[in-house]
Amino acid sequence: MKKVGIIGLGEYLPKKVLTNADLEKMVDTSDEWITTRTGIKERRLAASDEATSDLAYAAAKDALADAGLKPEDIDLIIVATITPDMPFPSTASILQNMLGAKHAVCFDVSAACAGFVYALSIAHQFISRGTYKNALIVGAETLSAITDWKDRNTCVLFGDGAGAAVLAPVSAGGVLSTYLGCDGSRVDLLNMPAGGSRKPASKETVECKQHYIKMQGNDLFKIAVKTMTEAAQVVLKQAGLNFSDVDLIIPHQANARIITAVGKKLGIPPEKIFINIEKHGNISSASTATALCEAAKEGRIKKGDIVLLDAFGAGLVWGACVIKW
Ligand code: ACO
Repeated sequence: MKKVGIIGLGEYLPKKVLTNADLEKMVDTSDEWITTRTGIKERRLAASDEATSDLAYAAAKDALADAGLKPEDIDLIIVATITPDMPFPSTASILQNMLGAKHAVCFDVSAACAGFVYALSIAHQFISRGTYKNALIVGAETLSAITDWKDRNTCVLFGDGAGAAVLAPVSAGGVLSTYLGCDGSRVDLLNMPAGGSRKPASKETVECKQHYIKMQGNDLFKIAVKTMTEAAQVVLKQAGLNFSDVDLIIPHQANARIITAVGKKLGIPPEKIFINIEKHGNISSASTATALCEAAKEGRIKKGDIVLLDAFGAGLVWGACVIKW
């Protein structure tokens, strides 16, 4: 089995910034409520002519440049998203054409906020067995397209963006362990009810606002803390490591209070936990991807460091990964 590492990282955030002050003018909320309950100060929104593949393309180009590879060198593209350009074909296929990555096998992964960790785990399997050599994985979302901008329970939380990574065989370090999970019994807690085969798009579904994110945040909060704590424990044990060995934990950025609670339960000091939610809000599959990219580009990750990714989202799904940098 080959060792597999991340050899390039990239991100793209749309230009438009929506601040908490802007939201105060749109719904009955306040900067104080959003900041204390979530840690979010602002988020980016895609322009009206920007789709998820456009965001993915910009992040992918950044990651390819960082890796020093050309699109033709890529033989696997996985896009993690819950906001594809269209139900089919995959956003990965669209991205392949935009990049000119004509040798790549392409598919999407739908694992909500754990999507990037799912994609990383799948790419790791393919490369470690020698099936593919250079994989491009992208977490990309245009959540603004499925957000009800009149629902204060959800609209203050989400943002748009994309993060990308290039994975390839490495001589040392790399991915030490991955752990994925799912509990399909709680689909009710977070979903978009219409637009699929259960409730195809119709005048009625649009009038009932069923093409927007529906979330029971309070229940999710408690499950997220428990599940992310357990996922981190399992994946570290699999890697044969302790929490004292971890240099940086990069959690899914759904809520700063969830992240702090997980850190406390695991006994990880705040300086070892990367948080960028104040700038981006929750970008679902792009959250862990952009956080990893920013942590690396800010110099928070050094060669030889142990990095732990830990994500949780709609499904319910979760995923964790330990990487030696
Ligand atoms: N501004 C002001 N008040 C608000 C707002 C708002 N934007 N939103 C809700 N409130 C009110 C509620 O109406 C409620 O009022 P009431 O007490 O009069 O009924 C009060 O604030 C408290 O509401 P709660 O829902 O109990 O607030 P909570 O502290 O749980 O915070 C939040 C809500 C931020 C959504 C939190 O529960 C959370 O972050 N949950 C987890 C989200 C998550 O992890 N999602 C999964 C990943 S996302 C993915 O997969 C795409």
